[in-house]
Amino acid sequence: MIAFANNYFYITTKSSSYIMKILPDGVLKHCYYGRRISNQNMDYYNLYTGYSYIVPYMINNEVTTMDALPQECPSCGRGDYRNPAVVIENADGRRVNDFKYFSHRLYRGAVCLESLPYLDTDTGSAETLEIILKDLISGVHVHLFYTVFEDIDIIARHTEVRNITESTVRLHNIMSLNVDFEFSDCDMISLYGSWGKERTPERYTLHHGKATVSSNKGSSGHHSCPFAALVKKDTDEESGEAYGISLIYSGDFEIGIQVGQFGGTRFYAGINSENFSWKLQKGEIFTSPQAILTYSHEGLGKMSRNFHAACRRHLGACAQKKKHAIVWNLWEAFYFEVNEQKILDTINAVRDFGIDVLVLDDGWFGNRENESTSLGDWLINTDKFPGGFNNIIERCKSNGLKFGLWFEPEVISSESNLFKKHPDWCIHIDGVAPMKSRSELVLDFSRQEVVDAVYDSMSAILKKYDIAYVKWDMNRNITDNGSISLSNGQQGEHSHRHILGVYSLMQRFKKEFPHIFFEGSAGGGGRFDFGILYYMPQIWTSDNSDAIGRLQIQHGTSMVFPPETISCHVSACPNHQTGRVTPFKTRGDVAQLFSLGYELDPNHLTTEQIELLKVQVSKHRELEGWLENAEFYRLKQSSDCDSCAWQSVSADKSRSAVLYVTQLTKPEKVGEYLHLKGLDETKKYRVLPLKIVVSGNVLMYAGLPIKRQYRDFESIFFEILEV
Ligand code: DGJ
Repeated sequence: MIAFANNYFYITTKSSSYIMKILPDGVLKHCYYGRRISNQNMDYYNLYTGYSYIVPYMINNEVTTMDALPQECPSCGRGDYRNPAVVIENADGRRVNDFKYFSHRLYRGAVCLESLPYLDTDTGSAETLEIILKDLISGVHVHLFYTVFEDIDIIARHTEVRNITESTVRLHNIMSLNVDFEFSDCDMISLYGSWGKERTPERYTLHHGKATVSSNKGSSGHHSCPFAALVKKDTDEESGEAYGISLIYSGDFEIGIQVGQFGGTRFYAGINSENFSWKLQKGEIFTSPQAILTYSHEGLGKMSRNFHAACRRHLGACAQKKKHAIVWNLWEAFYFEVNEQKILDTINAVRDFGIDVLVLDDGWFGNRENESTSLGDWLINTDKFPGGFNNIIERCKSNGLKFGLWFEPEVISSESNLFKKHPDWCIHIDGVAPMKSRSELVLDFSRQEVVDAVYDSMSAILKKYDIAYVKWDMNRNITDNGSISLSNGQQGEHSHRHILGVYSLMQRFKKEFPHIFFEGSAGGGGRFDFGILYYMPQIWTSDNSDAIGRLQIQHGTSMVFPPETISCHVSACPNHQTGRVTPFKTRGDVAQLFSLGYELDPNHLTTEQIELLKVQVSKHRELEGWLENAEFYRLKQSSDCDSCAWQSVSADKSRSAVLYVTQLTKPEKVGEYLHLKGLDETKKYRVLPLKIVVSGNVLMYAGLPIKRQYRDFESIFFEILEV
């Protein structure tokens, strides 16, 4: 609910309140964000917020300091020396702004962002507040949007800058949101990583100054994720306060928490200003990416479940609820050595496994014998596939399978026909040898003709063949940033323009090929964010396919993203990345609560493994109907690495599934009780495979007994069914 009275804006969700005030001089002050409170205490808010009262902003109508005032859109160069929300360079070259309240509007529904992904609603269940500020120095308008999804404690935030003046200005900084808190005795949690180790949670004490997570790679990155949480010291998985922000954006971003000199905390998120500037001419509008903001007083688990609900109900492709397929991906089976006969043999081998889609990964096009050639030449290699894909697709169909194909649309090999024809289409600096990575160059997607050409060549294949699934990969980061099509003064626009070009291509494919299920990928999980999930409901999580390595990765990824978006494959052992040998059962169990798939040569499976595989597939079929709406609980990921446990609970609390994996057997341990979550206290449940019937309260408060007998890498998969 959004209300406005006596210069106060009140945003109320199921469990939170967000309060702002227009001060007499027009500054938009932030008053409160936290656990839901009543709106009637206006006198109180005149004293609040703590530090602006203690260090007064004004004495006798004179500003004393802006540096302690909690604000919604802090200006630059007017006495607030903390991180500014928006920086506009005026026509005279000065970067000084003074944002003051101008007007506001309230309306039902969400706001449609034209060329960026965003949270939407088709049920009219959201409300939006738009507050317009005017920069008293340049005259430019800044619009702050608050779209409120009341039932799931989500506020979607973005900012628009509208140049309503006669002059050209330049934008240097634009945050999607800024929240100022009066406290600072907190921790920050973010997700760090690298290739093969994406999204590992890290928690650290806030210090004076800035703590940031960011990317300048042209994508959200393996090393970081556009997410951060501000949590109280006593916050854990199930209790305590947590504020979470995640950007619906896949490009260069920054999320920061800054503790100021008076102890307050500024939490902000937006485009990374490091490489960014934007020329805004008379009448032009710049729209920031949207950020998702949530509050939980029930710990990190609830914060995650709020993010999951926002994604499932309101984020593009994820909200469309396309059925997730169980895929058989051929990358780790054959790498580049693919051909028609191998694929036909694979179809024969997997045809009665219950799989949905066979996905032909890299290696099918141009002269692609290894990673150094042919990207951009999306033409079937007829030496490998003499009849094109006709025989394969026919064989798939006659065996109840669909066919999927791999592309890497945003890059080009210098050894390719496309490069011979258009050497200037890659991102480069004239006269300078471009940096390569995985032997690839990045296509300049800020240029419409490049995006159109990629569409034409890829869509020719997708139109010719019955392709049900596309894995959209992107295996390198941007270097030599800039575009030969932009003027000298506009090179700072390139990163953002590039990602807008990427989104426009994804949108076009989504619209033109609605029957295709798209899966994102980026050297594993190098671009796992809500921006991609708007176009593709699933993302390949990591090239580390080792079940034990995956525990940490899936655990961290679930901090923000719903389990069904997290693509997990059972692969061969010894594992190709780690050399580890794990039981086939564990490999299946670790993927079971997520998006299950397989990625290995079926001819190397033993009879026993095939039987187990069929059980895994039919179990997943049974679970998937309720898993996509289930509440996910991270029960355990112990700091001494001995075990990991997760639980999913159906929306009506009638079913639950629990995974427990031993990472390191501890002979001194006598076993443990796993305290389940989210069940109905009063319901009675049958626990399989234990064959006992107990109440929800027993499972939650006394716990589920885990015997010590489990050895390294063994797993138990419990099912909890209401009786
Ligand atoms: C990187 C992906 O993460 C892999 O799964 C595979 O598709 C390769 N690219 C293919 O080059």
